[in-house]
Amino acid sequence: MNPEIETRLTAVREQTHRLLAPLTDDQLVRQVDPIMSPPVWDMGHIAAYEELWLLTCLAGCDPLHPDRADLYDATETPRPERGDADLLGPEECRRYLGDVRERAIEVLGGTDLSPDGDPLTAGGFVFEMVAQHEAQHTETILQGLKMLPAGGYLPPRREAPAVRRPAARRALEFPGGHVALGAGEGGFAHDCERPRHRTTLGPFRLAATPVTNGEHLAFLEDGGYRRPELWTGEGWRWREESGAGAPLYWEPDGEGGWIERDFERVDALDPHRVLCHVSAHEADAHARWAGARLPTEAEWEHAASVAARDGANLGQRSFRAGAAGEGDDESVGGCRQMLGDVWEWTSSPFDPYPGFRAFPYAEYAEVFFGGPYRALRGGSWATQNPVARTTFRNWDLPERRQIFAGMRLAWSA
Ligand code: AVJ
Ligand code: FE
Repeated sequence: MNPEIETRLTAVREQTHRLLAPLTDDQLVRQVDPIMSPPVWDMGHIAAYEELWLLTCLAGCDPLHPDRADLYDATETPRPERGDADLLGPEECRRYLGDVRERAIEVLGGTDLSPDGDPLTAGGFVFEMVAQHEAQHTETILQGLKMLPAGGYLPPRREAPAVRRPAARRALEFPGGHVALGAGEGGFAHDCERPRHRTTLGPFRLAATPVTNGEHLAFLEDGGYRRPELWTGEGWRWREESGAGAPLYWEPDGEGGWIERDFERVDALDPHRVLCHVSAHEADAHARWAGARLPTEAEWEHAASVAARDGANLGQRSFRAGAAGEGDDESVGGCRQMLGDVWEWTSSPFDPYPGFRAFPYAEYAEVFFGGPYRALRGGSWATQNPVARTTFRNWDLPERRQIFAGMRLAWSA
């Protein structure tokens, strides 16, 4: 297990450095928006988290920057405060990351990972938690980098999303009934994915592919952003306050059409591409306009449990969502692109499963339960592979649009 864990940690770290490499020191320390952190905060926070869990907890080491512990604690120093905080500089962060990692590999070598030992280390749990934490932060970093003015960040793209192969069917039918959800014992999962439990679903249909730009353009052109009857009360208040009249990064082309800004690229809107950068409110209004609704988390996970991940647009390779119809092979009999391309808004608030127990810390998920947060499922092109799994639960405020989130339609049968 040890060499495997070390390889995982190294692979995630290489991707972190690959993403940040094109940035100048000035870009690394600048906060582009109060809802995002300066990249240099994520760097220090990644190091501090690894140091806390692997060095302090497992080996009793003293922190390298004790005076900055609160600064790199996500709860103590919320995002709006991170731009003006006395953070370590880019070079100091690189050294902090490297120094912690060097020590962490030594600790890994001396830790008993046997499956029946301490649950924190059994099967390498806490090491995988640290790897997935860093992987999740690379997606957050990318949300901020996409907010830079066009050309501000040149992503290290390694491949284009696969060539489009249209889905044969518009929707798949699910009979519902008693279904099992959540992650079972053994293997890595976050506390909010557990325990595995049964629930009952009514019969439903779920779209074979996520909603496309073309479908959302039809919503927009049909007055979708001007018709309060299509929105929830909360959603319409958000629309009025934000003035939103199109997804984030859509801009009028001056001739009645639309362009989509995508890092350094500014292209005519591709109607076949999967819709991205809508709030949960927009997704909800679009679904109502289409005579549909958003799926619940339980419907989504049940449907995803029969979909394959092969060929999914994941792992920060393409740097954009692909066209609808790409991805998972229809032969598995499931919906396509459940994993990858875009996170999918669900209609479910982010709440605990019955029998939830916080492990190993309440600040990962528990403190967000029962709040205004909405659950998202599936993972985006920016989600690294082990994080994208059918049981993984993401959450965010329903008004957020900088996240790589789109939607899929569902219908009660
Ligand atoms: C699961 C993406 C909502 O970014 O707040 C990062 C992940 N938790 N550090 C977040 C997370 C602690 C979390 N999300
Ligand atoms: Fe974090």
